[in-house]
Parts: sequence; structure tokens; C-alpha cells
Amino acid sequence: MLVIRNIRTMRNCVRKVKGEKKIIGFIPTMGALHQGHLSLINRARRDCESVVISIFVNPTQFGPREDFKKYPRNFAADKRICQKAKVDFLFIPRVKEIYPPDYCSYVRVKGLEDKLCGTFRQGCFQGVATIVSKLFNIVQPDIAYFGQKDFQQVVIIKRMVRDLNIPVKIKVLPIVREKDGLAMSSRNKYLNKQQRKEASILFQSLQLAKEMLKKGERSSVKVIAQIKKMIKKIPSAKIDYVSIVNPESLEDVRLMSEKILVALAVWIGKARLIDNMIINETGI
Ligand code: PAF
Repeated sequence: MLVIRNIRTMRNCVRKVKGEKKIIGFIPTMGALHQGHLSLINRARRDCESVVISIFVNPTQFGPREDFKKYPRNFAADKRICQKAKVDFLFIPRVKEIYPPDYCSYVRVKGLEDKLCGTFRQGCFQGVATIVSKLFNIVQPDIAYFGQKDFQQVVIIKRMVRDLNIPVKIKVLPIVREKDGLAMSSRNKYLNKQQRKEASILFQSLQLAKEMLKKGERSSVKVIAQIKKMIKKIPSAKIDYVSIVNPESLEDVRLMSEKILVALAVWIGKARLIDNMIINETGI
């Protein structure tokens, strides 16, 4: 595995790999790798002849009062994981090279960026779309892999790729969960023992939604109310939002007569956790 710290070297490697007519699979990450990332790497390993992973804690997707500084960073452990998973190239660019002091170009995906998490984390998805488009330009992957946990991010990236004609296929893999259902996330590291136990309420509440649909409930207002009631029983929980939306447009759905996305963001102590579930109208 080659560890690459600058754009020029990354581009030279890409040129060589493309010259060999190899399919490039790419997994953009912010590090603190876990089983969720590993499932993306393993899939890329199966699909592609060359696998590139990037680790870059992207400052432009964090708000001024968010956790950029204390976002978990453990390069030694990440490198070991990548080596073991047979990644070919580990790209860890420096902030100064990605965003030079006079940097001024940003990508916005209007209409999708200000919904769900975008209401609470203004500018976040502009930061995501900008860094992902830059990484796509540098790595020029054939296929890029993302996890369904960041559902809104995936919808935004897919739209950006379509709108800007970026020649990459986006593959989305299912959420990888702990035994009690908690979605794997680098931010789970912020939870203490008690909060970690309590955090399983997120998955339980999504399952409650599924059960309600199965039993014939069609009113999203009622389902959301029950989810909120359940989560509020946990003292350390603070809800940002619980929403039921169309999985493509992210518009609110009132009467659930088609495939829907139940999405939520909840603070458990100092960790802002997100989770979601796609459910069809019969609760499956
Ligand atoms: O999902 C993430 O880890 C990040 O948002 C991404 C896609 C690597 C962009 O910084």
C-alpha cells in the first residue's frame, strides 16, 4: 500500500493505473475507520482492480461551534486497517494543499442541502459537495463507495454527479450496525458507557416506525410523534429532528403510501448521532 500525501503524486499514480486499464474504486473518508468503512473497502476490493481510500478531516463541512478540532484522528490504526484490507493507495492530503489561503470555489446542491441535517448544520453539505468533487477530480475513480448512514450526503452527491456530469458510478452500501442496532459511526467514540447503552434507542425507534407501518399506520405525523415520545424517555437524548421524507427529493411525506425514508438526528450527550431506515408502504 502506498501512502500519498500530495495531489501531484496521487495524480501520477492514477495516470499509471488508468494506463494499465484498471478499474479504480474509491472510498472517501474522514478517518477513524470502523466496520462500516471496512464494508466499503471490501466491496471495492471485490469490484475493482485498484482501491484508493482518502482520509481527510474536511474543515469546510464543520460549523464554527462543531467538533472539527476534536474529531477522532488515529492515523496509525487507520493505516493498519487499510493495509490489512489490501487498499492500494491511501491518500491523506494536507489542508493547506486542498484549501490554499486564497481558495474561493464551492459546490452547492440547492434544494437538497438545506433539508434534514442541513437545517441544523448550515454550510455542511456545501463543504461535503466541494470536497467530494475535488477528490473525484483528483482520484478520477470509476466507482465511489458511500454508506447509507449518511443518507442525505448520498442523495446530494448523486445529484451533484448527475448535474455536473462527473464520470463516476456511486455505490451505496447498507448501514453496518453494532449488536444492539446502533449504527457504526466515528462519533460513537464520544459516548460514555451509559450513553452508549442509551444510544440504541435510535435504532429501536426506527424499528417502531417499521412496526407501525406494518400494522397499517399511514400518518407520518403519528409515527413521528411516537418516535419522539420513545426517544424523550432517555434523559441524555436531545432531538434535532425526526422526519419522514421521500428518499429522492427529501421532501416531507404526510400520508405514507409509497417508499419512505425515516431519518433522525439525536444528541446523546456530546455526540450528534444520525440514523435512518428506508421502509416501503407495507412496513418492509
Ligand atoms: O462521510 C464522510 O466521511 C465525509 O462526509 C466525506 C464524504 C469523506 C467528505 O468529507
